[in-house]
Amino acid sequence: MNLILLGPPGAGKGTQAKRLQAAYGIAQISTGDMLRAEVASGSAIGREAKAIMESGALVPDAMITAMLAARIEAPDCARGFILDGFPRTLAQAEALDRMLAEKGRRLDHVIELRVDDAALVERISGRFTCAACGEGYHDSFKRPKVEGVCDVCGGTAFVRRADDRAETVAARLEAYHRQTAPLLPYYRAQGRLVSVDGMAAMDEVTRQIEAALAR
Ligand code: AP5
Repeated sequence: MNLILLGPPGAGKGTQAKRLQAAYGIAQISTGDMLRAEVASGSAIGREAKAIMESGALVPDAMITAMLAARIEAPDCARGFILDGFPRTLAQAEALDRMLAEKGRRLDHVIELRVDDAALVERISGRFTCAACGEGYHDSFKRPKVEGVCDVCGGTAFVRRADDRAETVAARLEAYHRQTAPLLPYYRAQGRLVSVDGMAAMDEVTRQIEAALAR
């Protein structure tokens, strides 16, 4: 099964993609995580992407499409994948269609997570992750069970993303509405789009997605 989770920054794509990865045994592909790994390694791609990401803009289509093409060839994608953060422009969506057609694969579902802009700012500004294993938390919605200790790995160091500052979040939302929202009519016309209520509690969002995938 190959699917896309589509939605604005902070909609819950990463949260839900991790749950679906565990439930269906298919790979989560977060292009944001891939770019952050390039930045952390100091590679040429990372050096080019760093300032763009910190401004809240999108990195060039050619850069991200080449990374994605290589990533879906990896063995863990053989049973399928969940795209989290890709495609983000019409050019990326068209490139994905071509890529999958060349490989004799197809897109099964596109799930839109619908969330109000005001809620997104609150979600993003409260987000933090375990520095050791990457488990995600939130100041209000999901605190570690034991304060200061990761539920998953027991780590005690947590990090916040450089692009989660309020002024950058506004630029990321603007990029979403201008460049990514046009993908909704694109996938609706293909008959693949299902929208779920991303404002609901995390478990309810998962339930709605699983119901959509079972159709
Ligand atoms: P990326 O890393 O993809 O960031 P994003 O799309 O902005 O999405 P986020 O990771 O911020 O949010 P999310 O939807 O995963 O929400 P989460 O589950 O964490 O991209 C970063 C940058 O990389 C881009 O700005 C761009 O520069 C570049 N980039 C990446 N891909 C690119 C591409 N294809 N083309 C060009 N450039 C690209 O949830 C957020 C918080 O809310 C968490 O704390 C969570 O606990 C909480 N939460 C989640 N669900 C709920 C719920 N239902 N109720 C309450 N709280 C919830």
